Amino acid sequence: MPIDIISSVLYDGPEVIPGWDYIKTYGPPALTLAAIKYYFAGASNTWERDLHGKVYIITGGTTGLGAQVAYELATRGAQLILLVRSTEDIWVADFVEDLRDKTNNILIYAEQCDLNSLHSVRLFATKWLDNQPPRRLDGVVCCAAESIPRGKARQVTVDGVERQLGINYLANFHLLTLLGPSLKVQPPDRDVRVILATCSTQSLGDVDVDDLLWEKKRYPSGQPWKVYGSSKLLLGLFAKEYQRRLNSYERKDKAPCNIRINLVNPGLMRTASTRRFISMGTILGLIFYMIFYPIFFLFFKSARQGAQSVFFTLFAPIFPKLDGGNLIQECKIITKVRTEMTDEGLQKEVFEKTEELIEKLEKQSAIERKKQAQFEESKKPLAEKIRAKNAELERKSNIYEKPATPEELDLKLNRLRQSIGMGGSGKQGDLPLFPDVDLAPNSAVSSGNDKANGNPTTARKNKPVKRKA
Ligand SMILES: NC(=O)c1ccc[n+]([C@@H]2O[C@H](COP(=O)([O-])OP(=O)(O)OC[C@H]3O[C@@H](n4cnc5c(N)ncnc54)[C@H](OP(=O)(O)O)[C@@H]3O)[C@@H](O)[C@H]2O)c1
Repeated sequence: MPIDIISSVLYDGPEVIPGWDYIKTYGPPALTLAAIKYYFAGASNTWERDLHGKVYIITGGTTGLGAQVAYELATRGAQLILLVRSTEDIWVADFVEDLRDKTNNILIYAEQCDLNSLHSVRLFATKWLDNQPPRRLDGVVCCAAESIPRGKARQVTVDGVERQLGINYLANFHLLTLLGPSLKVQPPDRDVRVILATCSTQSLGDVDVDDLLWEKKRYPSGQPWKVYGSSKLLLGLFAKEYQRRLNSYERKDKAPCNIRINLVNPGLMRTASTRRFISMGTILGLIFYMIFYPIFFLFFKSARQGAQSVFFTLFAPIFPKLDGGNLIQECKIITKVRTEMTDEGLQKEVFEKTEELIEKLEKQSAIERKKQAQFEESKKPLAEKIRAKNAELERKSNIYEKPATPEELDLKLNRLRQSIGMGGSGKQGDLPLFPDVDLAPNSAVSSGNDKANGNPTTARKNKPVKRKA
């Protein structure tokens, strides 16, 4: 049959093909659209990697690019820790449950780390670093970002920093520098990869070392992409400087640095942030977005297509052999970058200034939190305050709990003294090793307790004392 058609076309011309008129009219535009779609879908990653047993932290892993990355890593068997604004959110619980089912991987967890607050980032990092022995960590993929639509007033984070700079730059800086000890402690044969999602708008950004966080300059609400671009450019400088610092860290085993930080530009995608940006956060804008959706469908990538460069950077075996701080786009390392990306002096200066800024902001926030707590405390009724104070005192003096401060230790020692009949009203001095022998020789209760507790040493020592009495 196909041979018949081909021979007819060859001898009698294409008009013999059924529906030729339609094909002639609609074929070329359809092919053009398919070619455009194919071109704008971008390059595809061809590398694979088995991720069973590997552990990754992902920010922004519940929507858009991050959700796609989470899905693909979970499918390959990785254990994931998704950092989310709130673990109380029922939607997050559903998302994790759903992802576990779809990928047949139960090792997917959500941890609270609101990038809107430096304190929240510190709480998560402290919790992570508190693990003994240190937890395995094969990589951190930072996809979370905030892009404010045009025409909106300046918005700030909990720490009072412009939102895009606070979330896209400061929070990532804080998270990765705090996780530094965890990254550095990984065994030398472990291939640790950190990925920071960036954007082409970094070419519109600026680095003003005297006003890194856009506090002195007027917020450009008509061109918010300038601030967004600056946040991504600063992130790039951070990646370069942090990589250098990690490279110069001397490990105890003298092995070379096994951590690589790279920047990935996924390209324009049809994700929630793009929709929000185009629709300018308005209903009318959303209608506009829906009407012109076919155009966005044609020219913008899906999240899966955008994620290809992330997979390339995570899976390709070349990266451990290269130094970090590369910009990856369309599954290729881009060598033509902004001049700031090659200026080591600037990168160092920006890094140090950012460290100072974070320290200052954290102190300010701590003072604010304390004031807020005191204010809330002052609003409580007296009876409730007394109850809370007593409960706190009870908790602190509970001898079965490890003391947190020297004062708590004193309280617990006093309680212990009282319990063994030494009187405990703040009396100082060392606790005797065998209190009932030295101080309460006739105390039958003490010896009885020792026997009951199965303390043969004390019980034996008590015997001659009783005989004497
Ligand atoms: N979209 C594009 O066309 C494009 C182009 C170039 C580069 N990029 C970059 O690619 C990355 C992903 O973009 P996307 O379009 O996939 O973004 P998206 O769909 O808007 O997702 C952003 C993610 O960040 C999370 N997030 C935002 N603020 C947070 C906070 N304070 N604490 C914790 N998580 C927070 C969001 O969590 P919630 O779900 O709780 O809001 C969400 O999961 C971004 O870094 C972006 O700059 C995107």
